[in-house]
Amino acid sequence: MDAGSASAGRGDRTLNWQDHPDLPANGTPLCRIDEIPDQNGREVCFGAGKENFKILLLRQGQQVWTYVNFCPHFSLPLNYEPQTFVTLDGLIMCAHHTAFFNFNDGRCVDGPCIGDGLVALPSFVQDEVVYFGSGSPAVAQ
Ligand code: FES
Repeated sequence: MDAGSASAGRGDRTLNWQDHPDLPANGTPLCRIDEIPDQNGREVCFGAGKENFKILLLRQGQQVWTYVNFCPHFSLPLNYEPQTFVTLDGLIMCAHHTAFFNFNDGRCVDGPCIGDGLVALPSFVQDEVVYFGSGSPAVAQ
C-alpha cells in the first residue's frame, strides 16, 4: 500500500483523507518533534466535532510517522482519552479491541484487523518541526 492510500475496510470519509473538509494545507505545521512523547504518540486535530480530521503522530527518537487516527476495525480513533496512547516496542495498540499496529508502516500485526492497516499521511520534518504534506513549510500570508 502506498502512503496515503485507503486501506481495505469501511467506507468512512476519513479513509478518503484527500477529500476531508478539514484537511490542512500542504506544509501546515503539526507540532514540534519534542511535543510527541518518545516511543509514543500524539494526536493533532483540524476542524471541530466528532468528524474532524485527526492526525496520529508516532515517534521513535528523531523518526516520526503520521497516520489518520482511525482504526480499520470499527472506524474509531485508536485512543479513548485525549493524547493517551498505549505503545510497546514500536507498536501502538488500539484502545478498543487491542489491535496492534507497527509504528513504521501502520500494518496491523495482531488483533481483530490483522493484515489491515492504518492510513499513512504525508509529512516531513524541518528544524525539529513536523509538517503535514510534502515539500516545504507553508508560508504565512
Ligand atoms: S476499533 Fe480498534 S481494534 Fe476494534
